[in-house]
Amino acid sequence: MASRGGFNSRIGFIAAAAGSAVGLGNIWKFPFEVGDGGGAAFVVIYLAFAFLLCFPVMVTEIAIGRRTNKNPVGAFTDLGHKNWRIVGILGVLAGVLILSFYNVVAGWAFGYFVEMLMGHFTIGQNFGTFITDMVKVGSYGVLFMVATALIVSRGISGGIERASKILMPTLIVMMLGLVAYSFTLPHAIEGIKFYLLPDFSKITLPVMYNALGQAFFSLSLGMGALITYGSYVDKKENIVTSAAYITLADVGIAFLAGLMMFPFVFSQGLEPTGGAGLIFVTLPGIFGTLGPTLGILVGATFFLLLSFAALTSTVSLLEVPVSYVVDEHKVKRKKAVGLVAGVIFLLGIPSMMANGYSGFFSHFITYLGAGKATDFMTFIGHIASDSFLPLGGALIAIFAAYVWKKHNLNEEIEQGFPGFKGSLGEKYIDFAITYLAPVVLIIIFVLTVLDRFFGINYF
Ligand code: TRP
Repeated sequence: MASRGGFNSRIGFIAAAAGSAVGLGNIWKFPFEVGDGGGAAFVVIYLAFAFLLCFPVMVTEIAIGRRTNKNPVGAFTDLGHKNWRIVGILGVLAGVLILSFYNVVAGWAFGYFVEMLMGHFTIGQNFGTFITDMVKVGSYGVLFMVATALIVSRGISGGIERASKILMPTLIVMMLGLVAYSFTLPHAIEGIKFYLLPDFSKITLPVMYNALGQAFFSLSLGMGALITYGSYVDKKENIVTSAAYITLADVGIAFLAGLMMFPFVFSQGLEPTGGAGLIFVTLPGIFGTLGPTLGILVGATFFLLLSFAALTSTVSLLEVPVSYVVDEHKVKRKKAVGLVAGVIFLLGIPSMMANGYSGFFSHFITYLGAGKATDFMTFIGHIASDSFLPLGGALIAIFAAYVWKKHNLNEEIEQGFPGFKGSLGEKYIDFAITYLAPVVLIIIFVLTVLDRFFGINYF
């Protein structure tokens, strides 16, 4: 498949896939989910889901991609019946929708980097004004989409692989620096305790439900992003150990993000339940207390880091629909990128306006039984990330176990991993995709749809 391109090295694939996984989900979303979910108890549940349920699904996605050398739509068509292409289409659609709003938040992150460089530490209090400034939000949005498109248009090894190999290690170094700094703050220890000492009475159904959703989103599962990346992987690679590295990197960086955030929050005497604003509202003021020079240095570093993390994720979100258009409609990569990125940018405009600028998009829809309206951006998130991903994950597992069949999956994994067949690892992965993942994910999907859109909640 030389014409389709591929990763040049094992580490390149791992860096790109870990780059896809590590993003706003880890650094922005994870800490506030932990804050809302009661601290360390949430962390424990999240870790259990990530390793026990998500990891086998990840192995399966990569194996499907490598076996077929195709985008998700082509992959399901090749291995199963052509009706199964609907799972691939669901994935392409999820990629398009998620990227449309993810790019907006990524633009905010980059905008905050610029504000920090200028020493505007009061931006946190003015977050509401910032996100309704359509000139700024629009320009940063364009900039971010263009950067994403440039990387994707250069193809797998020259674009995605090379960018990830530089950005990922840089991110880890910056992050470690910030964690070390946060530990030196007064009251840091209270934050660390909140984060690391679990209170098991806080484990409730909603906490489990959020933890699973978070693990899925964070690991980039359920829409075929890893089928697509897997399609560029060499037969010599060991899929299981690669997936283990990707999972560890993703979980590790989310863990570091929490380790940094809670000392910051507690040192300011703030509540950990700060919600989605934890990063954009709380942090700039904290950087401001460091004085102008150090404040600018730490603040700009942080938001640059967040932008890098987001960039390797937007790249993977764009690669899914692009590879679909390239493979299935025989369009040249550069043209496909321009087309798809343009459409997604346009689809993102309502999300840009959904945070106070436009009354219509800010109060877009009122679900049955809900007291207040949901904005357009949150609505798209509910559909694409909260509903499509668990559904897609369940269907991927069901497909591999019952349609493609386990012995074929195991044969694909065995290539690059001699001795896999008959091992404990094989037995566990078989169990997880045959029973555990379909059952748990379908339950989560049904409960989410009932709860989100029909106001029926059982817990
Ligand atoms: N995992 C990324 C994050 O945590 C987001 C992301 C990138 C994603 N590609 C994906 C989520 C594919 C689901 C599916 O920010």
